[in-house]
Amino acid sequence: MDLFIDSASTHEISAWAETGLVTGVTTNPSLLAKSGRPVHEVLKEICALIDGPISAEVTASDWGTMLREAEVLRAIHDNIVIKVPLTKDGLKACYHLVRREIPVNVTLCFSAAQALMAAQAGATFISPFLGRLDDTGVSGINLVRDIAEIYQKGEYGTAILAASIRSAAHVEEAAKAGAHVATLPAKILEALYHHPLTDKGLEIFEADWKQTGQSIL
Ligand code: E4P
Repeated sequence: MDLFIDSASTHEISAWAETGLVTGVTTNPSLLAKSGRPVHEVLKEICALIDGPISAEVTASDWGTMLREAEVLRAIHDNIVIKVPLTKDGLKACYHLVRREIPVNVTLCFSAAQALMAAQAGATFISPFLGRLDDTGVSGINLVRDIAEIYQKGEYGTAILAASIRSAAHVEEAAKAGAHVATLPAKILEALYHHPLTDKGLEIFEADWKQTGQSIL
């Protein structure tokens, strides 16, 4: 399973690009608003930081305007993936964009039926929102499992991009449930490194090594 960063902060993205662990970026209108910067400028800088799929979301609600926005966003860089909402107009825009060989990420997916529709429309990625679904008392991980089963049986080419990830456990479970990608905020990416036994083990190694008085260098 690939790891993407869910952010519109060039500072965060640049730090994670250096690790080589992150192969793509997802943004959304809320994240771009939080950056407080002009959208075209931020997206251009993000594309220069990571050479992989960079999702940029349309903001119109009708499919005709979505297609026009998509054109402007795609002019920024070839790696831009057009993110459309899982609405009737969003899926119509998806169908027309894919026919023009433009990659599409269908976002705000909360049911397997919605994911099936997105795959039928030819989506490159489907983004089930795990954390937001969990908040309603319905398991986000079960949704990923259901989508994976449906896509496998129907032999769809749409990749499952687990979104709205809230914990390291979410990441592990999404990978086991069949997600192809998980997009994580920087703080969850950071949490993936940590385990108390790693810290404790390191403390012991350091103390034992100190006692030898040796140095490798
Ligand atoms: C994904 O594409 C979305 O930007 C994101 O994962 C939403 O996450 P949130 O529920 O934490 O806002």
